[in-house]
Amino acid sequence: MGQYFSLSAASLSLASGFAGARSVLEPAGAEAQQIAILFWIMLSGGAVIWLGVLGVLLHSALFNRRRLAEKSASRIILWGGVVFPSVTLCVLLAYALWLMPGLRPFAQAGAAGLRIEITGRQFWWEVVYRPAQGPPVASANEVRLPVGERVEFTLKSADVIHSFWIPPLGGKMDMIPGRTNRLSLLATKPGIFRGPCAEYCGTSHALMAFSAVAMEPEAFRSWLAAQAIPAEGAGASGGALFLRHGCGSCHFVAGTDARGLIGPDLSHLGSRATVGAGILPNTEDAVARFIARSELIKPGSRMPAFDMLPPDDIRAIAAWLRGLQ
Ligand code: CUA
Repeated sequence: MGQYFSLSAASLSLASGFAGARSVLEPAGAEAQQIAILFWIMLSGGAVIWLGVLGVLLHSALFNRRRLAEKSASRIILWGGVVFPSVTLCVLLAYALWLMPGLRPFAQAGAAGLRIEITGRQFWWEVVYRPAQGPPVASANEVRLPVGERVEFTLKSADVIHSFWIPPLGGKMDMIPGRTNRLSLLATKPGIFRGPCAEYCGTSHALMAFSAVAMEPEAFRSWLAAQAIPAEGAGASGGALFLRHGCGSCHFVAGTDARGLIGPDLSHLGSRATVGAGILPNTEDAVARFIARSELIKPGSRMPAFDMLPPDDIRAIAAWLRGLQ
C-alpha cells in the first residue's frame, strides 16, 4: 500500500509540474491553434443556440401561454427544427472539412528537415531522430523538437494499437501494428508538454506517457549533437553491475556492451525529464524503485523484478544511469 501511495504522490507532483502543459486549449503548435479556434467557435455557437432555446422556452412558459394555430406551429418546427439545424450543421461540417487538410499536412518523405520515428510498445515509446544531416539518434520516452520547424513523425506499433498525442501541439494519430502512419507537427512556442497514449492498449495504458520538449532550434541542434555521442555514467561500479546483472540483454547503452533492444534505450537516461515512460520524476530513488519492482509501478511491464539484488547494487546502477546525461 505504501508503495502505491508514494507512487500516486509522485505522479501528482509530476502532474502539477506539467499543469497547463497538456491542454488542447493552450496551443503551442500550428495544428493545435486551429483545433482550439474550431473548439471556441463551436462552444460559443452552442452557447448562443442554448441560450436562444432557453429564452424561447421561458417566454412560452411564463409570458405567452396561448396555443398556436397548427399552421404557425408547423412553420416554427420547419424553420427552427429542420432548416436551422441543417444549415448550422452543414456550415460547421464545411468549416471542419476545410480545416482538415491544414491539420494533416502529410509531409512527403524527405520534405521535412527532421523526421522522428516513434514506435509504441507496451508501455513505452521507442524514439529515433532522423535529421536531414547526421546519424540517426536513438532515445526513448521523450520527444524533443525544434520550434518553428516542421517535423514529420513516423508512427508505428510493435504490439497493439497505441495513439500518439501531444495535446498542445496538435491532433492525435493511431499507431497500428503492421502500418506506418505519418503526422506532421509545427511547434510555435518552446515548452515542456505531456504526451499521453490516447488509445487503450492494456493494463498500464494510463501509465504510458512521454514528455515532449519544444526547444529553440539552436538549443535543439546542440542537444541532438550531444545525444549522438555516448555519455559517461556516474561511478564505474554501477556500469559494471549493470552489465553483470544482465541489464544489457534488454537495454541499449551507447558506448558500452549493453546492446539489448527489447527495452527502452538508456544511453542518455539522465538527461530525460521523467522515467518509466512519463510517470515518475527522474530521480535516483525513482530509478532504483523501478529496477527493484517495476511491476508495482507499472503493472504489466515486461521488465522482471530485480529486488533479489543487494540494495547497494541497485543504488549503484541507478546512480550510474542517472549520470548518463
Ligand atoms: Cu499505449 Cu495506450
